[in-house]
Amino acid sequence: MDRNIHPVFDRILTRDDKEKLLNQHAIVIWMTGLSGSGKTTLASCIALELNKLGYLTQILDGDNIRTGINNNLGFSEADRFENIRRISEVSKLFLDCGIVCINSFISPTNDIRHMAMNIIGKENYLEVFVNASLEVCEKRDVKGLYKKARNGEIKNFTGIDSPFQIPDHPSIEIDTATLTIDESVEKLLNRILPIIKYKK
Ligand code: ADX
Repeated sequence: MDRNIHPVFDRILTRDDKEKLLNQHAIVIWMTGLSGSGKTTLASCIALELNKLGYLTQILDGDNIRTGINNNLGFSEADRFENIRRISEVSKLFLDCGIVCINSFISPTNDIRHMAMNIIGKENYLEVFVNASLEVCEKRDVKGLYKKARNGEIKNFTGIDSPFQIPDHPSIEIDTATLTIDESVEKLLNRILPIIKYKK
């Protein structure tokens, strides 16, 4: 095919083109909350449910980000900003590809979350506050990190010697101390599905 004769084939595919192909609208679902609040669990449950319904998703979380693209970052305030800045830029690439991006990061301050929202775009950013108190998360201590933080083996641990600010205006709040996983997933899906359902 001679592309000079068919310049239309040279045009760059847009997000609209890709959303049409995937029969879905893209969004970034941004889970914020303390370590152990349930962000990752909810992210994977939602990804599974959306997959069953035919939606293409991508999870971004500590496991695939802090061990890879962000493996040079720690937990100082500056590093957390850089962590979230890069994640937000990567999320934008997924958005432009029409994919439902599910992010679970502590993203501990309003300034950090605000930066994420500004990079991603307000209309593309759905903030989910996965709310469980420090007491609850510490009791769960799934990874044993709270114990280490209390013993001084880990410094700057969120909730212990590094701040977590309650989100100002989350789109959704999920109280994982009182809701079951199924209830939490249902509440989230009720909010997400109308947004990502493709409108011709
Ligand atoms: S964020 O603050 O920059 O958003 P992120 O969500 O990427 O943090 O990483 C948090 C995960 O890293 C925690 O769930 C925990 O497993 C691990 N971690 C290791 N050190 C710390 C620390 N000092 N504070 C918080 N989480 C830590």
